[in-house]
Amino acid sequence: MNHLKLENEALIMRPLEARDCSAILDLVVAPEIAANTFVPQPYPPEAADEFVRLGRERWRDDEAYVFGIVEKSSQCFAGCMGLHPAAEHNRAEVGYWIGKPFWGRGLATSALRLLLQFGFETLELNRVEAGHFEHNPSSGRVMEKAGMRFEGRRRQYVMHHEQPKDLLWYAILRVDYLARSTAKRKETAED
Ligand SMILES: CC(C)(COP(=O)(O)OP(=O)(O)OC[C@H]1O[C@@H](n2cnc3c(N)ncnc32)[C@H](O)[C@@H]1OP(=O)(O)O)[C@@H](O)C(=O)NCCC(=O)NCCS
Repeated sequence: MNHLKLENEALIMRPLEARDCSAILDLVVAPEIAANTFVPQPYPPEAADEFVRLGRERWRDDEAYVFGIVEKSSQCFAGCMGLHPAAEHNRAEVGYWIGKPFWGRGLATSALRLLLQFGFETLELNRVEAGHFEHNPSSGRVMEKAGMRFEGRRRQYVMHHEQPKDLLWYAILRVDYLARSTAKRKETAED
């Protein structure tokens, strides 16, 4: 699939570029990133180059779609969000982080809504899912606001910093997405 750009009034999402590396290195030092994701800490400088290179390679092979998020108002690189398909099941898993200086501005929710649109309308997925650690409720809030539904707790589902951890699991199905889109269109038409 050709590289593409997703955009709304708040942000632009586009494939990672080499010029993003210094912003990535600046933002991933916040301990909250490694505490809530699988981003390594400490984060070696060459890891950003590798992350960008791999991201572009996987995109080219349709293995994963990792977007850099650029906040429109500041023109700053603010974080990353990726969709990782399990093609045989026509579903994909979402992962993301937003740099701490950009928290609380609605960027993760806004980006997730765009990513879901891409997943369902362009990739024609049937299901998109994601999980967060119990100690990270704001991520669950982001998933809910974007229309994902809580499905349950996957007990000790992952090893994180050598500890087994539960994941609170959310998903949205294609039928849910289409119903939400229809309801939103109706609302707009009635305004
Ligand atoms: C989780 C994260 C992505 C949120 O990004 P963000 O751009 O600040 O998110 P948004 O502004 O779109 O929404 C955050 C929501 O969480 C809510 N929130 C914040 N702290 C909360 C808490 N302790 N409990 C519940 N909700 C909380 C906010 O109030 C907001 O909801 P609201 O709009 O209803 O008020 C960001 O903090 C982050 O990247 N954290 C580190 C990495 C990470 O957690 N990645 C996700 C792994 S699953």
